[in-house]
Amino acid sequence: MIEKKYPKDFYDLKTNIKRLLDFNTEQYKNSYLCRRFDSRLRVYHLDTYDEYWQMLKKDKKEQEVLLKELTINVTEFFRDNTVYQVFREQVIPQVVENKKYGKIKVWSAGCSDGKEAYSIAMIFSEFFKNQNVKDKVEIHGSDIDHECLNTATNGIYVSKPGIPQIDVERQISFLNNAKKYFDIEGNIFKVKPELKQLTNFRYHDLISGPKKKGFDIIFCRNVVIYFARELQTILYKDFYDALNPGGFFIMGKTETLIGPARDLFEPFNTKERIFIKK
Ligand SMILES: C[S@@+](CC[C@H](N)C(=O)[O-])C[C@H]1O[C@@H](n2cnc3c(N)ncnc32)[C@H](O)[C@@H]1O
Repeated sequence: MIEKKYPKDFYDLKTNIKRLLDFNTEQYKNSYLCRRFDSRLRVYHLDTYDEYWQMLKKDKKEQEVLLKELTINVTEFFRDNTVYQVFREQVIPQVVENKKYGKIKVWSAGCSDGKEAYSIAMIFSEFFKNQNVKDKVEIHGSDIDHECLNTATNGIYVSKPGIPQIDVERQISFLNNAKKYFDIEGNIFKVKPELKQLTNFRYHDLISGPKKKGFDIIFCRNVVIYFARELQTILYKDFYDALNPGGFFIMGKTETLIGPARDLFEPFNTKERIFIKK
């Protein structure tokens, strides 16, 4: 694929941001960065990336806003809920059957504010009918966004009706009785301790962080899609290495396995982007 040409000050802005904010712009697709930069230029009615840089380097608040914009963390409970249906009906029974000893280890890689990890926790709790779930499953969420990790750890979500992404009530109604997993005060949803204890959340950079191992299931959804192709190839191999034999890899609905990973995984459910480690 021929890459679109970008002006010189676009590349300068990438380099400067990397230096100033320690955010590794090189790893992201130019098309993705361009969209994010352009949206900031529009806010300030600026015409060039250089004008934006002149402002950005002096403006701490804008630096924070830009970082937030670059690490898009949109998420929801049971995002693309058909994936969770297949997960509940087909994936979990197979994993439980294969797991002869020890806990089932799940990794929500790029977990944002934890809704993915808690959705997984609710599904497991339903599966095990809330019987000793904490002795059977542990769910590790990781991300590079500290604010999101704080929300995830606290497990407190605010529902804003009319804004579908965070309309907690609508999302969790996917499971009958889902409310048993939250203490609800008005529009504030607090994850109950029984669910919280299945999860933990830690800072981990998929690109530069230590390699992980020993997982039975990895969810990495809507994260690598923003990364450059070469990096995606490396990360898919990392996920392969991080899985136990026969482990499941669950990707975002618009993501595709590329590179050598295509031969390392077997499709389990192509429509839902669920794969098994060969
Ligand atoms: C769009 S959210 C996806 C959240 C969730 N997986 C979902 O599908 O709903 C992408 C998340 O990836 C995180 N992220 C971006 N780059 C990352 C990196 N290098 N290592 C770990 N997480 C990263 C972002 O901070 C953000 O929270």
